[in-house]
Amino acid sequence: MIENKNIVLCVTGSIAAYKSIYLASSLVKENANVQVIMTEAALEFVGEASFSGITHNPVITGYYDRKSKLGIDHIDIAKKADLIVVAPATANSIAKIALGISSEPIVGTILASKAPVLIAPAMDGDMYNSTQVQNNLKVLENLSVKISGPEKGRLASGIEEFGRMTEPDKLLSEIEKIFSKKKDYNNIKAIVTAGGTIEEIDPVRFISNKSSGKMGIAIAEALRDRGAKVTLIHGNLSDNSIIGVEKISIKSAEDMTNEIQNRVNYFDLIIMSAAVADYKIKNKFNQKIKKEDISHLELERNPDILKSIDGSKIIKVGFAAETENLIENAKKKLSTKDCKLIVANDITLPGSGFGSDENKATLVHNKGCEDLPLMKKSELAHKILDKTKSFIK
Ligand code: CTP
Repeated sequence: MIENKNIVLCVTGSIAAYKSIYLASSLVKENANVQVIMTEAALEFVGEASFSGITHNPVITGYYDRKSKLGIDHIDIAKKADLIVVAPATANSIAKIALGISSEPIVGTILASKAPVLIAPAMDGDMYNSTQVQNNLKVLENLSVKISGPEKGRLASGIEEFGRMTEPDKLLSEIEKIFSKKKDYNNIKAIVTAGGTIEEIDPVRFISNKSSGKMGIAIAEALRDRGAKVTLIHGNLSDNSIIGVEKISIKSAEDMTNEIQNRVNYFDLIIMSAAVADYKIKNKFNQKIKKEDISHLELERNPDILKSIDGSKIIKVGFAAETENLIENAKKKLSTKDCKLIVANDITLPGSGFGSDENKATLVHNKGCEDLPLMKKSELAHKILDKTKSFIK
């Protein structure tokens, strides 16, 4: 997959720089053409000769590098690049990339290139959690820079925290994934729902649920990356920064129903990952209820949105978040809601479910069940799309 690809490996000044020698070697073994750029700080941790020996290319260490035979190094490299990887990426380099401070060739190359950028942060845990680093990472995410890790583990300081650079083998597989990304959803118009809906009791109080919307966002991103035109209809989200999709914010299940019904005839696919409130308050109070005046609430059923959509006109994918009888309940939902696929997940499993970045799911469809291991929601999103694709003519 990465054979003959021009990969620029940017190494910055972190103790994790030694891992990038292994990464360079793995890339070369896969027949990629690897061009390394190092900062002065990186040279304090690992030697230039290790990289030039492995890649058979001179290492760029500064704008005024006299050894290079290229015209203007960072421009030549930028134009040829198929991918730029910054590993390890220090807090300093992340800030410079976010702000476009091109005082050394790594940022210069990134600015002058149209290639995708993947960064692997590595630093102390508190540095990583600092507002400045988190803000800079958000900026990079908005610029569609892919961020891998950091992972939790023992840091150079001896503490166990998030800050370890993603291991080279994992980075290699993420790089391969970038090149293998199919555009198999070109010309597909998809509605994705995400997050929890809310049902107001009075102007102050409401009923809602624990959904963070992370799974729906991961699906919307994966669809976008695979070429689909995506409309994301969402309730409460823990992170609303997704770009490249149409976003429609709603509050109640009724709002979501209306937004979907207005569009459903013009779309090919709907993936309902939203946690829709099953009940609303029968007579919503227009004024704040005084606590003495409330002894019980009368509820009435909300429409089942997924069930109400005609499955002969659009591909329907639903979710089943369960605490017991996972497969049995998911199969019931597959048939009563007339879906092609139900993504079933047991929300009681550790590391899985609401708010988590990972999920463990079983794909339930007419031909059987596929039990998947615990994985990142972004990875699961692609698995769901791989399966869904088989239902699209
Ligand atoms: N769903 C929907 N409209 C509702 C409730 C749920 O469209 N009023 C969708 C969800 O988005 C999900 C699927 O139906 O894709 C299953 O939702 P879930 O909450 O697991 O099941 P329910 O149908 O609400 O049944 P129960 O709560 O009894 O498990």
